[in-house]
Amino acid sequence: MKKIKASAPGKLMLFGEHAVVYGYPCIVTAVEQRVRVEVQKIENDILKIEAPEVGVRGYTKKIKSLGEKANIPKGVIFLNMAVKNFFKKYKIESGLKIKTKSEFSSEFGFGSSSAVTVAAIKALAELFKIKLKNKQLFDLAYKTVLEVQGVGSGFDLAAAIWGGTLLFVTGGRKIVPLKIKELPLVVGYTGVKADTPTLVRKVAELRQRYPQLVDGIFDNINFVVEEAKNSLIEGDWQKTGELMILNQGLLEALGVNTKKLSDLIFAALDAGAYGAKLSGAGGGDCMIALGSERMKREIAQAVEKAGGKYLEVKPNAEGVRIE
Ligand code: PMV
Repeated sequence: MKKIKASAPGKLMLFGEHAVVYGYPCIVTAVEQRVRVEVQKIENDILKIEAPEVGVRGYTKKIKSLGEKANIPKGVIFLNMAVKNFFKKYKIESGLKIKTKSEFSSEFGFGSSSAVTVAAIKALAELFKIKLKNKQLFDLAYKTVLEVQGVGSGFDLAAAIWGGTLLFVTGGRKIVPLKIKELPLVVGYTGVKADTPTLVRKVAELRQRYPQLVDGIFDNINFVVEEAKNSLIEGDWQKTGELMILNQGLLEALGVNTKKLSDLIFAALDAGAYGAKLSGAGGGDCMIALGSERMKREIAQAVEKAGGKYLEVKPNAEGVRIE
């Protein structure tokens, strides 16, 4: 039977993490490391999944019981829920085989779960001949992500769908593509896998105890994002770097920084980066630094020397597409 393939990019948060959950804008860029999904109808009334990169081989589940979350391996829960939601919305009943392949490890925090959800829904729409606008794809994918992890702004889904670099407000209330020519980023992985929902809850608890203080931090992050939007479009790296450092200080105040992230950030700054900050929820995952093409090698070496893993990442990548 016919096979449909789709791919979606990963993402890196540039500015505005955490505040975005509370209705403020953030800036996210899609990265050229992609997740690929292949879908195919099958005769039996089951969903079959092969997702070797998350350790899942020969997984099967009855189509009727797709919504039941118990006993689903972590690596395929997003696919499970995405198929359930898609079938329910478009009143489809069919057996299905899904294969996934990722160009990056789910450890890095590049948003592999979101990319896989988006690519799967895109491929299913093509397979069952359903015309999906980007916003409809976003809404279905967002519903899926909220069902699985309960919290999240959906910024990573927007990056996977629209690609490029976006100004984004939670739930897709605002999705504005920013015209950016180049973005010379160095990405360093701390070696520590962070759990985003835990960190989002940690900030929520802090906000409960110090509402005025934390909202004040969010207001300031909002100012950073507003400034960064323009400096990114203008290609003003000096100013963008300064804003990254300001954003990092505000994230530190929210309590989501770690010593390892700081080590890599200071190493990058010492090597001449215009600016550096953590990217995403904090607690581990990746930091990003901004430096000209000429400086990138030195910054990358400094990050490695400080105990980080340099990841070659191409930002501003194309959004979801049928392959
Ligand atoms: O950890 P990541 O890369 O998924 O980023 C999380 C960003 C937050 O703003 C903390 C949460 C969100 O969903 O926007």
